[in-house]
Amino acid sequence: MPISVVILAAGQGKRMKSDLPKVLQPVAGRPLLQHVIDSARELSASDIHVVYGHGGERVRETLAAENVTWALQAEQLGTGHAVQQAMPAVPDDHLVLILFGDVPLVQAATMQRLVDAATNGEALGVLSVRMKDPTGYGRIVRDRAGTVARIVEHKDANQKERAIDEVNTGLMAASAKRMREWLAQLRNDNAQGEYYLTDVVVLAAKAGLKVNVIPADSEDEVLGVNDKVQLAEVESIYRKRRATELMLQGVTLVDPARFDARGSVTAGRDVHIDVNVVLEGTVILGNRVRIGPNVVIRDSEIGDDTVVFPNCVIDRASIGPNCNIGPFARFRPSSSLAQGVHVGNFVEVKNSILGAGAKANHLTYLGDATVGEKVNVGAGTITCNYDGANKWRTEIGAGAFIGSGAMLVAPVKIGAGATIGAGSTITKNAPDDKLTLERSKQLTLDGWKRPVKQPKG
Ligand code: UD1
Ligand code: CA
Repeated sequence: MPISVVILAAGQGKRMKSDLPKVLQPVAGRPLLQHVIDSARELSASDIHVVYGHGGERVRETLAAENVTWALQAEQLGTGHAVQQAMPAVPDDHLVLILFGDVPLVQAATMQRLVDAATNGEALGVLSVRMKDPTGYGRIVRDRAGTVARIVEHKDANQKERAIDEVNTGLMAASAKRMREWLAQLRNDNAQGEYYLTDVVVLAAKAGLKVNVIPADSEDEVLGVNDKVQLAEVESIYRKRRATELMLQGVTLVDPARFDARGSVTAGRDVHIDVNVVLEGTVILGNRVRIGPNVVIRDSEIGDDTVVFPNCVIDRASIGPNCNIGPFARFRPSSSLAQGVHVGNFVEVKNSILGAGAKANHLTYLGDATVGEKVNVGAGTITCNYDGANKWRTEIGAGAFIGSGAMLVAPVKIGAGATIGAGSTITKNAPDDKLTLERSKQLTLDGWKRPVKQPKG
């Protein structure tokens, strides 16, 4: 049976106390809703519908790149009413799988189990879980024989019902045709004056349908995010999940609780990662790469045996093998380093290419530069790449030696094997293999006296 996924994302999330709509609150730098869409994509669903409402335009803009069908729920009248808004676009012969935009960690395999529990639309599948503290969740009420009778929301539940620890995760699967019929019968005579999706359970049972309640693997997978405390809990579960994956692939994490993989990470053998490292976007780490404490790496590749010392920020760089980076080095987007390059402390590199064995060890800015093999860039050197209106390139030939404190005013070329005297401001091309310097003559003034302090008064 073809599957139509419906994701509910219209709620305001009052308990977040935030101007950002709840489903846009980030986990691992991505909106909650994005996580749900990404996992739903792993199913072979024919379409994904997102019910949006509160902060609607912002939600749609943020996820504009997603190929989903948007259904507006202009007024948030409850989860049942929300599903109803998507149903006109869902064909009768589909199975509808309902997901919540604020339950972000459910894995595709679990979604698939729920789909299977709906047995081609012959049953209503409900995903449940036992919670240590079920406060706030809908409770699954069973009759004496253990058959599921209904779901009661926390706010509507009596003392006895509140003691039930088997709760509704919110996820359901059923025949679209039947779901449509049930939704039309919902009433809002409850504590919150809302049309509850959960009331379809009673209607399914009345219609003689089997209600298959299947348990999720763990409480962690189905946590709902209603406030900032739960947001942080979900973030830490996500962190742990990603760290575990990498450790099982052989990566050493000095402390998995102080490591965040927020995007996709590919790691070779014997990678060693120290504490407080954040990896974002697509990060590829070669064999035996070592990353020191407090390092942020985004959309970058790092070659075999390279060492990143503490406190570096590396953004969109391709770093070759056997390099030494940092401590305190910063790569802004688009740089490429060949093998054996050293970029040391307080060095900023942007949109530059560094050849094999090139070194810039201290206090330097390399922007829009092409640096040849085995170039040595002295401390305090700056490529002056910006004239106030345009950016220009600096080219430094192989084997050149740039003395400390040189200003290389781009566009400018330094020849291969050239030496630039310390403190020079170079505005014209410097030839190969020669010493070029630009300095006023050193003077010593005879008879000069230091000023003396004037008496006060
Ligand atoms: C809901 C369930 C509860 C379950 C819990 C699991 C109902 C009535 N209750 O409660 O049984 O234990 O989730 O996390 O279904 N939404 C809309 N439009 C609306 C209302 C909500 O799109 O009019 C969306 C929200 O954006 C959210 C989801 O539906 O993504 C759940 O809404 P929320 O208000 O958080 O429901 P809970 O009280 O958590
Ligand atoms: Ca919720």
